[in-house]
Formats: sequence, C-alpha cells, structure tokens
Amino acid sequence: MTSPRRTFAIISHPDAGKTTLTEKLLYFGGAIHLAGEVKARGANRRARSDWMKIEQQRGISVTSSVMTFESGGVTFNLLDTPGHEDFSEDTYRTLTAVDSAIMVIDAARGIEAQTRKLFEVCRLRSVPIITFVNKVDREGRPTFELLDEIADMLALDVCPMTWPVGMGGTFEGILNLDTNRIARPEGDSRTFQGKVEDAPTLPAEIAEEIELAQAGYAAFDAEAYRNGDLTPVYFGSALKDFGPADLIAALSDYAPPPRPQPAEPAPVAPEEKEVTGFVFKVQANMDPQHRDRIAFMRLCSGTFKRGMKLTPTGHGKPIAVHSPILFFAQNREVADEAYPGDIIGIPNHGTLRVGDTLSEKADVRFTGLPNFAPEILRRVALKDPTKTKQLRKALDDMAEEGVTQVFYPEIGSNWIIGVVGQLQLDVLLSRLDAEYKVAAGLEPAPFDTARWVSAEDPAELKNFTDLNRAAMAKDRDGNPVFLAKSAWEVGYVQDRYPRVKFAATRER
Ligand code: G4P
Repeated sequence: MTSPRRTFAIISHPDAGKTTLTEKLLYFGGAIHLAGEVKARGANRRARSDWMKIEQQRGISVTSSVMTFESGGVTFNLLDTPGHEDFSEDTYRTLTAVDSAIMVIDAARGIEAQTRKLFEVCRLRSVPIITFVNKVDREGRPTFELLDEIADMLALDVCPMTWPVGMGGTFEGILNLDTNRIARPEGDSRTFQGKVEDAPTLPAEIAEEIELAQAGYAAFDAEAYRNGDLTPVYFGSALKDFGPADLIAALSDYAPPPRPQPAEPAPVAPEEKEVTGFVFKVQANMDPQHRDRIAFMRLCSGTFKRGMKLTPTGHGKPIAVHSPILFFAQNREVADEAYPGDIIGIPNHGTLRVGDTLSEKADVRFTGLPNFAPEILRRVALKDPTKTKQLRKALDDMAEEGVTQVFYPEIGSNWIIGVVGQLQLDVLLSRLDAEYKVAAGLEPAPFDTARWVSAEDPAELKNFTDLNRAAMAKDRDGNPVFLAKSAWEVGYVQDRYPRVKFAATRER
C-alpha cells in the first residue's frame, strides 16, 4: 500500500509569508529541523543580483523546487513557485502540476495583485484553494472585512475554519471553530508552543463576531471546496507557529488526492496501470561544467520504477530513466519507485521539454500546459555575426526551459524574443553571456504583442498568413504566430478575419 498523496503549491503576493510558511510546513511536517534555511533563500531571491548568482550556481533552487515530506501517513509534495512576479509564466506551469493550493494573504493587506492573478490560474484549472490569512500577530484588518474581500474579489464562498481572538497587541490565540479549542501564545516570543484550551471564555465582542460569522457564512462543504467553489479560511501567524499544523491537517483531511489529468485521446486517471506523466519545468545547467538538465515530471498514472523506459510523445526514442530524483526537503534522493502525484526529476541532455508527455506506450498526450502571449517583445542584436548558430541554440534552449519565448519571423533574420516580465530579459542576457559566450543586445521590436493563429479551414489560415507575411513568425515548435503592433491591431485583424482564431495562450 502506498500512502495517500497531496501535491500542492503555495500562492501569494510577495512578502505575504510564503517562504516562512513553507519552512514551517516542512518543520511541522518533520522534514527539516533547522529553521531558517528556506528563509535565507527567500530573502536572497527577492534581490535581483543575488537571484542571478543563485541562478548561476543553481543547485539550491533545484533541491527546493519540490519538497516532499510525510506526516500522519500522508505524503506531501510541495511544489515551489517562484516568488517574483516576472516569473509568473513558470509559476503558471507549476500550477498545472498540483492538485490543490494554499493561498497566503497578509492580514493587513488582504488580496493583492499577484494573489489574484495566481488565483485566476487556479480557477481556470479548478484547483481547489485553502486560504491562510497570515500575520495576525500584527495589527491587521478586521476579520469580517478580510473574509468579505476574499468572497467578493474572488467570487468564492468562504468558510472560516478558525478565528483569530484579537490581532496584534491584543492577540490571544486562534480558536478552532469546529472543536472549540483555542491555541494560545506563550512566553516572551508569543509563539505557539502546544498550549491549547478547551471551550475557552472569549471576550464578548469576539464571541459575538463568531456567532455572526457562523450564521452568515457558508458551512464547510468538502465537495464545494474540491470543486473550487468554496475556500476554507484559516487564520494564523506562520512566524509564530500558529496555523501550519492546521493547514497540514486540512490538506490531509480535505485536499484532493491526485486527480485525472486532461489528455488526448482521453483523460488519464491515476489508477491506470500504464506509467504516464508530463514535464512542467526544465532546469538547465545546474552544474556549469556539464550541460545537464533536470526535467520535472509529474507522474499521472501507474507505478514508476527506476530504470523504466519512457517515451516522449511526438518526438524521440524511449529513454531509460536510470537515475530519477525524488525530492526530500534538503537532499536529493535517488528514487526507486514513485506514485501518481509524485514529482520525478529526470536528468537529460536537452531531449525533454516543457509540455512533453512521457509514457510507457506513447499514445497519450497531456493537454493544458499554457504558453502565454508575451507582453514585451525585443529584437535580438548579435554583436558578433559568426555566433549565429550559438545564438539560435541558446534561444531555443531558453525557450524550451520557458525562460523566454522565441519567434522566428517569416521575413528576415531578426529573431524576436518575447517575455511576460522585464526581469526575464536580464536573465536572458546574463545567461547568453555566461553560459553560451554570446554577446548580444536587445533592441525594440516593431511589435508589441503576439497571438497564436489557427483556423478550422487550412485555406483560411493560409489566406491570412499570405496577406500578413510581414507580421508572421514561427514559434519554437513551428506554430504560426501573428506579431501585432498593438492590442488595438489584434482587435482590428480579428474583426477582419472572423474565421481565424487568435489565441493569447497556447496549450502544448
Ligand atoms: P514571501 O516568501 O511571501 O515573500 O514572504 P516571507 O516569508 O519572506 O515573509 C515576508 C516578511 O514577512 C518577512 O519579514 C517575514 O519574517 C514576515 N512574516 C512572515 N510571516 C509572518 C507572520 O506570521 N507575522 C509577522 N509579523 N511577520 C511575518 P522580513 O522583515 O522581510 O524578513 P526578516 O527580516 O524578518 O527575515
């Protein structure tokens, strides 16, 4: 018997406390004993220069991309999502590999821009969300206001599962509304150290609040939560150890086990015998001496065994996976077996790409891994024309990793790269230089945005591309892309070619 799996991610706006919570979940889940390790990484990551250094050294960010821990007979796979908003594309892809998410909100700030964006991605895929309102050890907004904001802004039913008894200076603990037990702060640090009390006497205004809340909000309904219609809300302070244990229990009790995954010709259920999975992330050059890469595969069905041969759908020969990597918090371990919901790191030399399906028989293809229309386009200017080949290789590699997108125009040789955030451009240039020894600059491109084009009738598409040749390009996989000068132009051509589909995301 294998233990149940809970594969999840934490989504939040920077600074809400994701790193602190991650560390505490691992700690309470028994995976790490040294507080502070994950934290240092989070703080470094926010600083651009430090982040670049880390990127160059890699190692660290890889072992922490997936953190596995076991608690109460359940195996948890926590997938890290990059904190910086410029890396949202990578984050979005990671969210395709989870079955549920924890949304962390700062009690003083409520729902912020990045929380909302990430939430929308979860909603697109019906990923159920547990909400954690963090930092109640500080002054925060009134509890009702926070709950109503979540409900209104995200159009979700909310169900408070715990209730903060005061916040900031008046913080007296977290009441579990189900058991009527309160977790109390202790000592000078005001942390939770295990002190709980049954049926506490509450300040009158808190008792009243709770009564109102229980009458006013939806009762907890596991089904509604799993459908993504309701979010259970927990209050706490990751820093002071209030909440992490509640969240582990909630994931264990309510979060869905691995779900069937959308695929062609048919969705794949985890019970199916054949081993299948998809690559949601590729990380290259972890060791600068070797051009090795790790492809992160989410296992969707079957029991994976080390040495097994898997075939990437659509391209390539079967590959034998001799040294798969499982991720146990601080160290990489070589896996012998893995089960649906688990993440396996597969070392390879560039054969595996984001979006690839791997399977024993190679007759399925997972769908739904999005590419996003870039918001910034730049022309790549090569300083040394003899390096064209290296440049093409570098751009292809980075497109594969999902660092940037690359477009090869139909006319001319001015390759164009597209990103969703400015920071990706810096990463691109620094890596071109450091890893590929290609000196290049970026120039403004005469385009502002891009759309993948398709049409049911191939003649329609041909007609469109023929008439718009100067604005047509191909992406890394040879798909036709229309480069537009503005969002307005997209609307304009859309009206003129109603039978051509202009997509801002492309599923691969
Ligand atoms: P992030 O990964 O979401 O960006 O957030 P991170 O955990 O790094 O937390 C951001 C800041 O908020 C940190 O403070 C952290 O200590 C603090 N924090 C996290 N959880 C809580 C909490 O429950 N209560 C309080 N009061 N603070 C919390 P910092 O000043 O940026 O870092 P540091 O100097 O404290 O290490």
